[in-house]
Amino acid sequence: MSRITAAITGVAGYVPEGVITNADLEKMVDTNDEWIRTRTGISERRYIKDPKKATSDMGAEAVKLLLEKTKTDPKDVELIVCATISGDYVFPDTGALICDKTGCTNAYGLEVRAACSGFLFALSTGVRFIESGAHKKVIVVGADCMSRIVDYQDRSTCIIFGDGAGAVMLEPSVEGFGVQDVLLKSDGSGYNYLHMKAGGSAFPATHETVDAREHYIFQDGQPVFRMAVRGMSNVITELLDRNHLEKSDLDWLVPHQANIRIIQSIGEFLNFPAEKVMVNIQKYGNTTAGTIPLCLWEYEPQLKKGDKLILTAFGGGFTWGAIYLTWAY
Ligand code: UT7
Repeated sequence: MSRITAAITGVAGYVPEGVITNADLEKMVDTNDEWIRTRTGISERRYIKDPKKATSDMGAEAVKLLLEKTKTDPKDVELIVCATISGDYVFPDTGALICDKTGCTNAYGLEVRAACSGFLFALSTGVRFIESGAHKKVIVVGADCMSRIVDYQDRSTCIIFGDGAGAVMLEPSVEGFGVQDVLLKSDGSGYNYLHMKAGGSAFPATHETVDAREHYIFQDGQPVFRMAVRGMSNVITELLDRNHLEKSDLDWLVPHQANIRIIQSIGEFLNFPAEKVMVNIQKYGNTTAGTIPLCLWEYEPQLKKGDKLILTAFGGGFTWGAIYLTWAY
C-alpha cells in the first residue's frame, strides 16, 4: 500500500478592513515612517475595527472562503486546528468557536499555542491526523488579533504587529504530494524574551498587573532577532540535509513575516533569489500565526503542482521550525 501524505488542497485568507499606517503610529508614539520601514519593512498593518469581533471571527471568514473555494460541504470537515495566541477567551478553544461559526458541526476544534511558529505546529498536528488515516478533511487555521494584545504606548512592539487569518485544507494524497518532512523545536528557557507577563496562572490578573500594563506583549527585540535568524537558518539546513535537497532545488521559501531584515538574512544565508521568497510584511506587518497562510494565499496563483516549498518560523517560547512540502495543485 502506498504511503498517505497530507496535501494542502486549498488556501484562503482574511484581513480586516481597518488600516494603521506608519503615519497613524507617529501620532501615538515617538516613531517615524522612515525608522519603521527601514528597521522592519512594514508600511501598514490591519486591525479589527468592530469591538464585537475577535480572532475566531477572522478565522471563520478565512474558513468560509476556503470552504467555498474548495467546494467543501462544512459537514464533511472533521477537525479544525487553530493556531493562535490571541484566542477570543483564555478558554474555550478558538477552534471550537470557528467550527460553530462556519457550520462545521461535525468537526472538533483544537487550539495550538506556539506563538509566531503556531501555524507550523498546527499544520504538523493536522498532517498527523491525515497521515494516520484518522481523518480525510482537516482545516488548519492561523489567526491572530494582535491589536487587542499590543500596547499602543510601546513603540518597540506596536509598530510590528497586525491582525489577520489564513486557512488551508488538508487532504490525503495518494500521489505523494504535500508535507514531506517536519522539524519543530522549542526552548522554554527563552520565555522571558517574548511573552505576556500576566493573565496566566503564574501571574493572574490583578489591578496591579493591569496598572503595570502587563497584559500586553513584551519583547526584548534584539536577542529575539538574533535567535530568529540563527534558529530558522539551522532548521532549514537540517531539513535540506536530511531530505538530500540542494538549496537550488527549492522553488519557494515561505518565512514568518516578523521583520524584513530577518527574512533577507535567511534568504542571503540560503543564497536564494529574492523573487522566490514570499513577502507581504509591508502590508500586514506581523500577524503572528497568520503570516504563513496569508503568504500562501497571496502567492497561490504563482504556485505550480510539484513546487518544493519550505515554510519556516520563529517565535515566543521559544518555538521554531521548518516544514518541507510539495504543492499539490
Ligand atoms: O515574530 C516573533 C519573533 N519576533 C521577531 O522576530 C522580532 C525580532 N526583533 C526585531 O524585529 C527588532 O529587534 C525590532 C524591530 C523589534 C527592533 O529593531 P532593532 O533594530 O533591533 O532596534 P533596537 O531595539 O536595537 O533599537 C534601536 C534604537 C533604540 O534607540 P537608541 O537606544 O539606539 O537610542 C530604540 O530605542 O531604535 C529605538 N527604537 C525606535 N525608534 C523609532 C525602538 N523602536 C523604535 C521606533 N521608532 N518604533
